[in-house]
Formats: sequence, C-alpha cells, structure tokens
Amino acid sequence: MTEQYSGGYSAQIIDQFKQRTFSNQGAFLQSYLSAGLSVLDCGCGPGSMTLDIAELVNPGQVFGIDSSPIQIEQALITQKERAIINASFVSGSAYSLPYVDEQFDVVFAHAVLYHLKKPEQALAEFFRVLKPGGLVALRDACHSGDMMMPESTDLMAVWGTIEKVFKHQGGNIYFGSQHKKLLLEQGFQHIKVTCSYDTFASDIEKDSIRSYWQQFLNLDHRQLILDQQWLTAIELEQQCKALDEWCANPASFFARARCEAIASK
Ligand SMILES: C[S@@+](CC[C@H](N)C(=O)[O-])C[C@H]1O[C@@H](n2cnc3c(N)ncnc32)[C@H](O)[C@@H]1O
Repeated sequence: MTEQYSGGYSAQIIDQFKQRTFSNQGAFLQSYLSAGLSVLDCGCGPGSMTLDIAELVNPGQVFGIDSSPIQIEQALITQKERAIINASFVSGSAYSLPYVDEQFDVVFAHAVLYHLKKPEQALAEFFRVLKPGGLVALRDACHSGDMMMPESTDLMAVWGTIEKVFKHQGGNIYFGSQHKKLLLEQGFQHIKVTCSYDTFASDIEKDSIRSYWQQFLNLDHRQLILDQQWLTAIELEQQCKALDEWCANPASFFARARCEAIASK
C-alpha cells in the first residue's frame, strides 16, 4: 500500500494537535458516551482527545492507536502528566487493527480517514472490532465547505497545491462528504450526518493555521512540490507569502468544514 500521511510530525504540529479537546472536536459524539464503555480512538495522534474520552467513560477502557510511534510517545507522556489509568496506547495501522472481533462499544476516528488511500478498508476493520449495535464516529475535513476569507485567487492557488500533495500521498481533502456512502457500503446502519466548523479567527488561531500550512508546503512537502514541477521555487514562495498576507489582514478568518457521521453496526 503506497500511502504516506501528509500531516507531518514536527514538534510544532504535534503541539497544535495537542490543543484539540473532545468537548470541541468530539462534541457530536459526546452525548453517546457514558461510564463503562470501551472505546477505540483510531489515528489518535498525540492523544489529547483519547484522554478526554477516558475521563468520560471511566472505568471503561480506552485504546488509542496511531501508525506513528512519535505520536504514541507523545500520548504516553501526556497520559502520565494527566495521571489517567484507563487508557492505553499502541502504534499500529487502521488497516489491520490488533484487536479481536466485537471488542468495542465505540470506534472514533477524528481527521484520519481523509488521509487514507483506502478508507473503506479501515471502515471494514472498524466494523469487525465493534460489538453488535456498537457505534462508529467519524469527523473529516471537506474542502468544498471551507471558508478562507477574504477569498483571493492567490489563496485558491495555495489550496490547489495542498490538494495535489494530499492526492499524491493517498488522501482526499473532499473526503468528509463521502462518509454516508462508505458507511452504507460497509453495512453500517442508522447513520446520522452532521457538519461543523473548526474556526481560526483570533490572531493566535490564524497564526497557528498559517504556520501549519506554510510548514506543510515549504518544509514537509517542498521537495515533492518542486520535483513534481507543480510550482517553481518562486511560485512556492509567493504562495507562502499569500498565507502571510491573509494572516496579517485584520478582517481575515478560516473556517474549516468538518463532516461528522455516527452509525451503528
Ligand atoms: C490529522 S492527525 C489526527 C490526530 C487526532 N485524531 C486528532 O484529531 O488530533 C491523523 C493521524 O492519523 C495517523 N494515521 C495516518 N494513517 C494511519 C493509519 N493507516 N493507521 C493509523 N493511524 C494513521 C497519523 O499518524 C496522524 O497521527
């Protein structure tokens, strides 16, 4: 399977993911969780939301799995800091989960499937490890719903490059809108679809997303972009400058559309 996660694992990016909370990013699932449930957080990243879930379902057990040992190392550090004992973390793949059939009440995957080349294979694994009647909960970006304001041709060009990188690495920036179709194909029932936004409007929020995309373009995927001749070095510089200008505009904001789906086995 030729697929490479495009999000990056620098300390700066991991720090940004650590700011995510289940009460913000997982709000669509929160009312379904109660004490005693066993939960899998697949593609858990640095584990901030996994640990929030562990607090909610305590004494239920929560399992975080991520393909990156770097993320798991971070998750274990945060677990120790927060002194949470009903969570465990392991590195492994969504395509081949190291769990027995029908182990979990809930499988949560936040901002993971849109990075995968074969999301249907991951969903088939989620189905396998869920108990009958168990819930899968997905949240993924869908770029057609994004608002990066004020709109400009320069920013559209930036998104054109981001899309090319994602596609090349196996992902799909429009994936969120596919949840319902893929869940039906995998045999899930009672599918509830909602949408929400992650917004970046304060100076600090805008700066974090500016630096995230600049690192994505100019550091993590610079060589790929130049090798594929999607941009010249000068054009790449211009796209990074467009992000600086967007960020410096007091009227600008970014609202990232996230499609959400909850379904049962
Ligand atoms: C955008 S991050 C999201 C992390 C976390 N769920 C969050 O929202 O903060 C996507 C995560 O999925 C992981 N990942 C990518 N491909 C994976 C796979 N095939 N199996 C398991 N994890 C994977 C990456 O290592 C990364 O940590």
